[in-house]
Amino acid sequence: MGRKIKVCGLHLSPRAKGTSGRLLESFGLGVVDAGADFSVLSVADHPDVGGCRECGACEKEGVCAVKDDMSHFYKAFEKAERLVVATSLFFYDVPAQGKAVVDRGQAFWSRRYRLGRNRDGKPGARGFLLAVGATKGKDLFVPVTLSIKYFFDALAYPKQFDTLFYRSAEEPESLTPEHLLEARAAGRNFAL
Ligand SMILES: Cc1cc2nc3c(=O)[nH]c(=O)nc-3n(C[C@H](O)[C@H](O)[C@H](O)COP(=O)(O)O)c2cc1C
Repeated sequence: MGRKIKVCGLHLSPRAKGTSGRLLESFGLGVVDAGADFSVLSVADHPDVGGCRECGACEKEGVCAVKDDMSHFYKAFEKAERLVVATSLFFYDVPAQGKAVVDRGQAFWSRRYRLGRNRDGKPGARGFLLAVGATKGKDLFVPVTLSIKYFFDALAYPKQFDTLFYRSAEEPESLTPEHLLEARAAGRNFAL
């Protein structure tokens, strides 16, 4: 048997068992169906990650000067070959707890764009975005797609990635069995 692909689920919503959490769980079942390793890292378990202070320290060493729970996320980003971001929308973007994690990705941006590391990207890396919102406008997922596109780029994942978006999904109960099956199939496909 070959080596297992490592897939990390990055959950950026504060409700551990909310709508995006439910979808991420199904996505993860699909990842495991495909024979890959799946682990989840959630801001719900690490709600005290502080925001980026723009102190510039990471531009010199590629390492963040703020020492807090973000260390768990940095370690996971280094290990994960594939990264699925699952999030709800709070005012069209990721919730504040998740935004702190995204902004702290600046340390990885500095490694690439200030220190010249990982310029060619991370070999075999792929990203995926799973997002939910309570409303249903045409442009609902435009801002979060842009935020996560540049987050992936900072982490040396490709700027092109597949997505699954669910509108009119305020609570986990809004999700149908078909939605969960769709997320599971997407997870399987992502990990092949
Ligand atoms: C502070 C706040 C802001 C929200 N902003 C939006 C929004 O801009 N657009 C939207 O469609 N839903 C919005 N919602 C609804 C959530 O995205 C929705 O309830 C989602 O299912 C929550 O997912 P979660 O349980 O994974 O956190 C907002 C909810 C909260 C609490």
